[in-house]
Amino acid sequence: MDVGDLLKRVQSLLTAGDVAGAEAAAREACRTFPKVSEAHNALGVVLRTRADYPAALAAYQTAIATDVRNARAYNNAGEVQAQMGAHADAVVNYQHAIRVDRNLRPAHRNLATALTRLGRLDDAAQVLRQALQLYPDDKTLLFDMAALEHDRERFAPAIEAYMRYLALDPHHLDVRINYGSALLDAGRHTQALAEFTALLKIAPGHLAVQHGYHETLSRLVPPWHVPMMNEDQRNFAYRDAIRAVVKPGDHVLEIGTGAGLLAMLSAQAGAHKVTTCEMVQVVAAEATRIVAQNGFGDTVTVLPKKSTDIVIGVDMPEQADVMVSEILANDFVGEGVLPSLLDAKARLLKPDARIIPARGSMMGVLVGGDEVRYLLDLGDVCGFDMRTFTKFKPWSQSVPQSIAYDALSADVPLVTYDFHDVQTLKPANGAVNVSVIQAGRCYGVLQWIRINLTDEIVYENHPRTTQSVWNKVLYAFPQPFDVAAGDKVLVQLWHSGSHFYLTGAKASN
Ligand SMILES: C[S@@+](CC[C@H](N)C(=O)[O-])C[C@H]1O[C@@H](n2cnc3c(N)ncnc32)[C@H](O)[C@@H]1O
Repeated sequence: MDVGDLLKRVQSLLTAGDVAGAEAAAREACRTFPKVSEAHNALGVVLRTRADYPAALAAYQTAIATDVRNARAYNNAGEVQAQMGAHADAVVNYQHAIRVDRNLRPAHRNLATALTRLGRLDDAAQVLRQALQLYPDDKTLLFDMAALEHDRERFAPAIEAYMRYLALDPHHLDVRINYGSALLDAGRHTQALAEFTALLKIAPGHLAVQHGYHETLSRLVPPWHVPMMNEDQRNFAYRDAIRAVVKPGDHVLEIGTGAGLLAMLSAQAGAHKVTTCEMVQVVAAEATRIVAQNGFGDTVTVLPKKSTDIVIGVDMPEQADVMVSEILANDFVGEGVLPSLLDAKARLLKPDARIIPARGSMMGVLVGGDEVRYLLDLGDVCGFDMRTFTKFKPWSQSVPQSIAYDALSADVPLVTYDFHDVQTLKPANGAVNVSVIQAGRCYGVLQWIRINLTDEIVYENHPRTTQSVWNKVLYAFPQPFDVAAGDKVLVQLWHSGSHFYLTGAKASN
């Protein structure tokens, strides 16, 4: 029997599941044709099948020693080393395999996998890129590339690789799900929603598809939106203010349509025309349906865009007589109210336009007490001194409505924004000297918002009295300190259009 026949026999015995027979044939081939590299390679394959990795590696190494140009033997040796956890050695063998025969496709993928296991992610990506130049339509390589880039949060190349894969195999469900997730992770929410909406039609019961769809929606529409619309105190305050301010014939501009509540209240109050804008497309589309369903389709126009993109003469015929908005965050500024209002006042309103709300304040109180200490301070834990870990306490956090606190000062306005006076909307630093009225250990400031919808109609989510969808915010001072009645605490503030920072320390008397 010549070596070719013997090696065919090894292969067919292996295929038939006769590993012992295959091993005997392979050993005979090695004995009879010791200079034939493929005989040793075949023995390695058999030994690997029965999970004897060290012996398999030795056989592959003999195959390589017999023929240093046996690319498959290098690749096989690498695979066994990878199986034994020796990824660095495997890398060397895969590199040899590619150097000898760059068309040995599995070696490229193996090399990228081993480099990934070693944490050499840039190198792994480079290997996949080069392999894809050789094999641009290799779906496995494309998938590896997409997964690698996705894992290391390089979303643009991940999305590109998923798209290339889907151009070859448009119906691969798992790849489409991964593609949707990459769009979501990249912040391309509208495209992610389109993808998951399409997938939901194809695979409505698939939990990963359902998760992708709902996760995308919840990024587009924050979880506070439904409870916010159920908060009667907020709704009635706005309704009353709109009824007090809007006059028949007015053109009302609303910023931030949501479900269309304030726009419809404005139409109901007699506005001749209401233009409302919503920057989240899917929300704008739903509001358009709700407005029509409630019979206000003729009066209310929902623009699916951000207020700063509205163009007079294109999106609305003329500047508005009244502006209504409720784009206020827990810390007042976080939803971008200030730049939106500044822009609207400069471009979209008549000079004497009425504005709801008219004013608003961030309110605050110096706080102490056990529940506040629990959130912000550490001492001994199980007898161990943990004090230094407090350096990681959050400088600000939302707290539940029910938080019990000791008020060490009166309630004070920290910042007041007058929506008619643009100067107060611009980024600024500030400082408030707060008088202590009760002794205690002061940890920081508890903050809420007061909205003067008109001079008479005021909404406030006071932490002692109001159950509200707006959370209170607890700001921690860098160091807690003891205070006595009559002391002063200097609270320093900084705000930009959408960010706010607060800190404080005991003022020297
Ligand atoms: C707090 S919700 C209020 C919704 C509705 N006006 C209500 O009171 O029930 C604010 C909405 O305004 C949108 N929004 C915020 N700033 C915006 C802007 N500058 N232009 C358009 N929409 C905006 C948000 O996407 C969100 O849907």
